[in-house]
Amino acid sequence: MKILVTGAAGFIGFHLSTLLLSRGHQVVGIDNINDYYDVNLKYARLKELGVDKASASQFQKEVRSETHPEFKFSRINLEDREVINNLFETEKFEVVCNLAAQAGVRYSIENPHAYVDSNIVGYVNLLEACRNTGVKHLVYASSSSVYGLNSKIPFSTNDTVDTPISLYAASKKSNELMAHTYSHLFGFATTGLRFFTVYGPWGRPDMAAYLFAEGIRYDKPIKVFNHGKMERDFTYVGDIVQGVMRIIEGEVTTRKEKGELYKVYNIGNNNSVKLMDYIANIEKNLGKKAEKIMMDMQPGDVAKTWADVSELIKDYNYSPNTSVEEGVKKFIDWYKIYNNIN
Ligand SMILES: NC(=O)c1ccc[n+]([C@@H]2O[C@H](COP(=O)([O-])OP(=O)(O)OC[C@H]3O[C@@H](n4cnc5c(N)ncnc54)[C@H](O)[C@@H]3O)[C@@H](O)[C@H]2O)c1
Repeated sequence: MKILVTGAAGFIGFHLSTLLLSRGHQVVGIDNINDYYDVNLKYARLKELGVDKASASQFQKEVRSETHPEFKFSRINLEDREVINNLFETEKFEVVCNLAAQAGVRYSIENPHAYVDSNIVGYVNLLEACRNTGVKHLVYASSSSVYGLNSKIPFSTNDTVDTPISLYAASKKSNELMAHTYSHLFGFATTGLRFFTVYGPWGRPDMAAYLFAEGIRYDKPIKVFNHGKMERDFTYVGDIVQGVMRIIEGEVTTRKEKGELYKVYNIGNNNSVKLMDYIANIEKNLGKKAEKIMMDMQPGDVAKTWADVSELIKDYNYSPNTSVEEGVKKFIDWYKIYNNIN
């Protein structure tokens, strides 16, 4: 299958590309390699995929992987409509997996325009390109943040999600709405995936696991929001990409007759872990205690997330099976190697 993975230099996009290649698919990866967090981590991920920094850093240069013959990468901005259209015309993708986005809840309060540019303008460019070049299936990242002020636990895709509390969440909810419109009008399948706090090797430096590990490593106090009274459905990245892969490989030809062209799923670990237990696992694996500053709840944040993933289990046999103990150990093992810590 020929698949476009957007955000291929990002955390989840890198893992997904690696998995799809191991399954024998042809993967074209794109990413604008923005500097929302350290670009060296993005280039290091690309290096793992056989693409070197000197080539990858040039805009619109198609780079063939040195280690994975079925992988090509180009530095492309989703907002660049003409470039996106040309790429789709040339490649004729069967499936598109859109993981490129401006991520992060807190940053959307400081820099709202980045979210509109990538998550709205860029996303519409992809929808249009899918429509115009006969893409059969668009799989795209939504987020648990769409549940906003929802207090019913666990979060179900049957719950109403009309109360986003960050522009990030609003942009992801908009993606779902626009996908519905395109599936309805133009008859291609769209599948939105509401990811729940993904962590693991090659993880993002702006997310809790990395921030906590850095704090502990450098003896800097870590900020613990809502005085530690937070719970998250922490999901190991390996489980996430297994789920995404099943959806990409799943057949979509019967979805139209079943009236299911448009679908949205939760993709989480199916339970909720106390933030303090998560921190304790990081401390254990680093062999050092964190100095904690207890803080109030941050604007835009929610106290608890928990994914009801029964639909994904039913339809795709999704099976998240990595415990937080196991997953945090894998993350810290990688963190030590990446940062040359003995
Ligand atoms: N990691 C999580 O816990 C989590 C949770 C919920 C939703 N998500 C969503 O999953 C997707 C992947 O997340 P991630 O954790 O891998 O984030 P990431 O930031 O590591 O990856 C996203 C990649 O997209 C690229 N990108 C951003 N804007 C772009 C644009 N306009 N054009 C081209 N490339 C662009 C970035 O350079 C980055 O490498 C995102 O859509 C994110 O919103 C992630």
